[in-house]
Amino acid sequence: MKAAYYERQGKASDVLKLGEFPIPQPGPGEVRVRIHASGLNPSDIKARTGFSGPAAFPLVIPHQDGAGVIDAVGADVAPARIGERVWLFETQYRRAFGTAADHAVVPARQAVPLPGNVSFEVGACLGVPALTAHRCLFADGDIKGQAVLVHGGAGAVGTAAILLAKWAGAWVAATVSTPAQADAARRAGADVVIDRWSQDVPAIVMSETRRKGVDRIVDVSLQDNLDVDMGCLANGGIISAYAVAAASDHLPLPLLKAMIAGCTFRFVYIYTVPEAAKSAAVSAIGQCLADGAYAPTIGMQVALDAIVEAHEAQESGRVIGKIIVKPML
Ligand SMILES: NC(=O)c1ccc[n+]([C@@H]2O[C@H](COP(=O)([O-])OP(=O)(O)OC[C@H]3O[C@@H](n4cnc5c(N)ncnc54)[C@H](OP(=O)(O)O)[C@@H]3O)[C@@H](O)[C@H]2O)c1
Repeated sequence: MKAAYYERQGKASDVLKLGEFPIPQPGPGEVRVRIHASGLNPSDIKARTGFSGPAAFPLVIPHQDGAGVIDAVGADVAPARIGERVWLFETQYRRAFGTAADHAVVPARQAVPLPGNVSFEVGACLGVPALTAHRCLFADGDIKGQAVLVHGGAGAVGTAAILLAKWAGAWVAATVSTPAQADAARRAGADVVIDRWSQDVPAIVMSETRRKGVDRIVDVSLQDNLDVDMGCLANGGIISAYAVAAASDHLPLPLLKAMIAGCTFRFVYIYTVPEAAKSAAVSAIGQCLADGAYAPTIGMQVALDAIVEAHEAQESGRVIGKIIVKPML
């Protein structure tokens, strides 16, 4: 099979290569998937550059997320699954080979049925962003009728959070930086979109929520947004933080303000979310897809041969929407 790979960490153009590999065989409890779409995430970039630590394998085929069709199953997996359309999560977690290839092998539970009304490209957008957004939104219970603030509403996780929160019946405000990002956040369903540079985020949130504030905040950069968040949060509200922006991961907290607000800080790292919560997220995402309520922005699609271009675009931050690599193009 054809695959993209790297044997040392570094710059995309220096280390990413294309090559031929034997088609992998699924072991017991595993399935093999013919990959139609491979989804790129910052996590894949951080693994390739060494930001997340040294590589655990001498040769890595990158990318956690993807979608395709099961074409072989190992022992203990129902042969009836062959031919099933699926989306994949955590394909390269604790494994050397991810989805930037013609085929990928995963434990059967990480190949999730993709409803017939959903494209492979959308399937490849789910994994990291949708599971992270789900955990941020629902770890502390249902959000129907609640108010949610999503920072970075045009980002992959931000958009996933808007889509899932709207599907669940919440009111959603989102912050953005540019008019193009505002369009993306509105397309995802945000009720109010706020430019985080030129507008007063707490003033708008408080006015829109009739001085109550928001019940949940999904935050891509708590280190930058803490003061804004404290100004937007309802009494007893919850702030879910899922990314670290600064070189230092330390954060001084306004303890008295936080105590008076009775607020909760939740921290989310997708790879360590408890299995039961991940299974619940997978089910909820499946229902959202089946309801036709999950339509993320796809910003770029390229053939596997152009994987360097895809990685460079992800790192640049200039593409609004998910970047998809397609081995079959
Ligand atoms: N903990 C986890 O499990 C987990 C899971 C997924 C992702 N992540 C991390 O989360 C980060 C975002 O991932 P992603 O895939 O969503 O990336 P992305 O698609 O590049 O989106 C990031 C978004 O955040 C916005 N942003 C940046 N700084 C902001 C700030 N201070 N306030 C509000 N918005 C801000 C960006 O827009 P502007 O900068 O233009 O405003 C952009 O729209 C990455 O660092 C990723 O590694 C962590």
